[in-house]
Amino acid sequence: MTTINTQPSAAPVIQALRSIGYNAQTAISDIVDNSIDAQADFINIEFEYDNEESFIRIEDNGIGMIEAELQKAMTIGSKDPRDKREKDELGRFGMGLKTASFSLGKRLCVITKRNGTISERCWDLDFVSDKNEWLLYKSLPYEIKSKIGKVEGDSGTIVFIDRLDRFCGAGTKKVLKKESFFSKVKRIHKYLEMVFHVMLEKGLLITINGNTIYPWNPFLEDNPRRVEGEEQILRVNNKFVRVTPYVLPHPSTFNQVDYKYAGGLKGWRDQQGFYIYRENRMVSFGDWYGMFPKEVPSELVRIKVEFTNDGDADWKIDVKKSMISIPDEVKEDLKAIAKYYRQISQEMMLYRTKANRTGNRIKGTLNTWELATDDTNSPYILNRTHPILTGILNSVDIEVRRNINVYLKLVELGSPTNLLKTANLVKIEEQQIDEKLKKMVLDYAEMLFKSGIELNVEQVAETISVMAGFEGIELYTIKTIIEKEVNIHESRC
Ligand SMILES: Nc1ncnc2c1ncn2[C@@H]1O[C@H](COP(=O)(O)OP(=O)(O)OP(=O)(O)O)[C@@H](O)[C@H]1O
Ligand SMILES: [Mg+2]
Repeated sequence: MTTINTQPSAAPVIQALRSIGYNAQTAISDIVDNSIDAQADFINIEFEYDNEESFIRIEDNGIGMIEAELQKAMTIGSKDPRDKREKDELGRFGMGLKTASFSLGKRLCVITKRNGTISERCWDLDFVSDKNEWLLYKSLPYEIKSKIGKVEGDSGTIVFIDRLDRFCGAGTKKVLKKESFFSKVKRIHKYLEMVFHVMLEKGLLITINGNTIYPWNPFLEDNPRRVEGEEQILRVNNKFVRVTPYVLPHPSTFNQVDYKYAGGLKGWRDQQGFYIYRENRMVSFGDWYGMFPKEVPSELVRIKVEFTNDGDADWKIDVKKSMISIPDEVKEDLKAIAKYYRQISQEMMLYRTKANRTGNRIKGTLNTWELATDDTNSPYILNRTHPILTGILNSVDIEVRRNINVYLKLVELGSPTNLLKTANLVKIEEQQIDEKLKKMVLDYAEMLFKSGIELNVEQVAETISVMAGFEGIELYTIKTIIEKEVNIHESRC
């Protein structure tokens, strides 16, 4: 058969490569992966805001590259995804450096040093589009040289991305304001804390604009109250998959700051689910993959699932390292594990029963509510064998017993999930309120007390809490402010 060599056109391919679905967090993480693969133990990320001249600079102290390696690294598809990768290696497709950078901006400059020898290359996508050819600059543009700085030490790499049209709208009509630029940086900070937490715990140092990134561990490693379930080893295509379930402590055991922190990026309810790790790097998080809905009663469950890079094809890891698909071989096992721990979470949320560290379920006979065996239909039933209830029912005549049972049925029908307004479960601490606002609370309270309607502190506090201007203050705080004042008045009288 005759063939004809058909080269892709550079300009449209570039546009397509820029749009494979990275967001700023996943793009930066993919570039950080490369530094980790290059054995860096220090990665310094800088986001410089300067309107059109804004840039992102990622510097590492890894092994760097010789010129031929850099030339290859800058090639689209620098490695064959089918090749076996080193143990622990995070790269797979030979694309990340380019695709992640291009999803942020239109120019990518790299300067790298291996054993004292420096090499540099630069992709300028406007130039590539103009010429419609894959023309790579062998040296950096003059204006970049002063900004990119030097690789300190004997080896290391600096990745420099500017013309940040996608990151902050540079060169377009919609340039991000400084605050929005830096709130984006904040989100990236949080994301890196999460996806690289294992490496950070092991000593990797990452800084963003001089701020150290501290590991955010979804399983609250340091919290003695969390339940660590039994580790299980599953197999996919003869490759091991390690599964470790965790049930976090009841919300009422946290103060507000710790509760919010433990909620992570998306908050408690949305952070429940499986956390998938590939070579210690989190690639997907807080997802039941269609097996279960995300409900408040099951929000204490986070299950760690770890696979190795030789399982990439089975898990269908994507170029961005942010999406996987659960292999059919382990779906049922994972579902069964999740179901068991979701039930423990539901029990803990409803009855605040404690579970011990091995993950055994404890179902106290003194629970007033019980979990029905089928957790999809009317999941919560009253414990009709509770000793106090049994005692009462045995001491009354049949007519009263029937009435009590009818009443209990009605109670059961009022779903206990209504009790699960998480906000109310969090241990309450008084907020710091400025004096002006405090005075306003007291003025209103006084007005209400003098209104002629008989109101107690609770009712006055409730009325104020729903008034415009007081939305930010918690009911508890309003009540405390009023109570303190009432006490002072009373003690003066
Ligand atoms: N910071 C760095 N230090 C040293 N070498 C690097 C660095 N960044 C990239 N490289 C080299 O460039 C190559 C290409 O990187 P790129 O991210 O494009 O692909 P990859 O990491 O091999 O695979 P993936 O597309 O899955 O990320 C890497 O395999 C590595 O050899
Ligand atoms: Mg890579």
